[in-house]
Formats: sequence, C-alpha cells, structure tokens
Amino acid sequence: MAARDPHRFVNELDEAALERLVARLESRARDGVFARLLDNYVARLALPPSAQVLEVGCGTGAVLRSIARRDDFSGKALGVDQCGHFIDAANGFARSERVDGRIAFQIGDAHRLMFPDATFDVVIAHTLISHVTAPLAVLGEMTRVVRPGGTVVVFDGDYASLTYAYPDHDFGRLVDEALVNATFNNPRIMRDLPRLLPELGLKLADAWGDAVVEIGQASYFKSFAETYVPYVKQAGLLPERAMEVWHNEQRQAMENGTFFAACNYYTYMAHRI
Ligand SMILES: C[S@@+](CC[C@H](N)C(=O)[O-])C[C@H]1O[C@@H](n2cnc3c(N)ncnc32)[C@H](O)[C@@H]1O
Repeated sequence: MAARDPHRFVNELDEAALERLVARLESRARDGVFARLLDNYVARLALPPSAQVLEVGCGTGAVLRSIARRDDFSGKALGVDQCGHFIDAANGFARSERVDGRIAFQIGDAHRLMFPDATFDVVIAHTLISHVTAPLAVLGEMTRVVRPGGTVVVFDGDYASLTYAYPDHDFGRLVDEALVNATFNNPRIMRDLPRLLPELGLKLADAWGDAVVEIGQASYFKSFAETYVPYVKQAGLLPERAMEVWHNEQRQAMENGTFFAACNYYTYMAHRI
C-alpha cells in the first residue's frame, strides 16, 4: 500500500487511530521542547484587544487554547479543521480548560475557507502546511481571509531534516525517509516559503528556525515514533521485522540515555500587503 499522510486522510482513519492522534497532538502541545516553539511566536503576536484569530488545521485546539489563556487576549479565536472527531475533542478540551467563551471550532477545508475576504487580524497554520494536498491554495486562502496589514503565521517542520541516530547508518537513513514519507505530504515546503509568500501578496516580517533535539532522553521523538512507525509498517515501506528491531533499539537508547534525534522547525510571520 502506498504511504498516506494520516493527517491529510484523517477522515479515513478508524476511531482507535483518531484517538491515538488526539493523544499525540495533546502530548506534543504539553511537551516542553515543542511548547517553547509555539510560545516564541505567540509572544511576538501583536493582538489588538478585540483581535479575531483564525487557526486553520486546528486539530484538538492546543494552539488556540494557548492564545486564549494570554492575559492580554480579549478577542475571539476560531479553529477550523477537516476532522469532526478533532473538532469534538477541541470543544471538550476548551470547556475543561474554561476558555470556551473565547474560542469556537468548526469543520472546514483549509483549501476552501468559508469566510469573506479580510475577516481576521491573525491567521495561523501550525503544522498544517506539511500535510495538505495543495499548500499554495491553502496559503492563498489564509492570505485572502486576513485583513490588509494583518498577520499570517506559518509554523512547521522541515521534515527532510528529521533524523534518528542508528548504528547502521544506511538503514537508519532509510527509516528516516520512510517515517517522513509515511507521515508528511510536503516534507520540504518550509524551504519554499521565502519564494511563495511574496507571490501571494504577503510581506515577510520575521522568520527564524529552531532545532528540536533530544539527546539522552526523549519525549517528543518517543511519541513521534510510537505514533508514526505503525504507518511505515502499514504502508509496507520497510520490512516489519526490521522496523521492530529499529524501534526496540530506539526504546533501549531512551532507557540507557544514549538516544539522539533531531528535526528543524521554521516560523514565518508575514503581513498582508
Ligand atoms: C499535525 S495536525 C496539527 C493540529 C494543530 N494545528 C496542532 O498543532 O495541534 C494537522 C491538522 O491539519 C488538519 N488538516 C489537514 N488537512 C486539512 C485541510 N485540508 N483542511 C483542514 N484541516 C486539515 C488535520 O485534520 C489535523 O488536525
């Protein structure tokens, strides 16, 4: 079977697979290494008091909850995702964190947003663009619905840089590639944004990169492997037994304190001209 990015085809997954992705999104949001990257750009967002914020591909709503918790946020946040299961989960988490008065969620396709032009002050795509069918169309829609002078934020991994250490370097490289091919429709898209954003009528205001690196211990890459190794096996990208050996060695390295994995992430903040 060919590899199929689970977030792109999320509506074809069964209940158990959806619950695993809900758990992954929530554990990732709590993970110190990853939460820092979100806090970095949320802290730089200039939010007017009545800011209207849209997140496309909001998943379980972790990004918007973090904005809604800000002391200076008194506006409204709206999350759109293609997956009804995630939207239900997002509503539940927002209620239990008592931020549901400031956030709403709805089902929708990022390629065809259902909002008039220039509706929002800020539009965010947080680890969405690497998964979508047509990244340029999604960026075009984000640009259309942000007001002139408003901010578009695109945050995602440069997954072509993802790597886990493995003693057999050749097989290790094959696993890195298989994990990326099984999980991301657009693993290199973040390298294209300096060229694409101006074509869409966006002026780059700020951009930076962060390496997510775990050495010795692992939390972020532990959950990444637990979540996505099954998709490598399911797609038959590498022999199942060899993947099990690889995964067991990663678990052992985490226990022994000899683990290493890394991936680069980039944040772009741009203004609509
Ligand atoms: C990796 S998750 C990120 C979720 C959330 N932004 C976060 O960081 O916690 C990617 C999300 O994009 C959603 N998605 C993928 N393609 C989409 C599309 N065309 N329209 C709307 N949502 C989409 C998936 O359903 C999934 O919830």
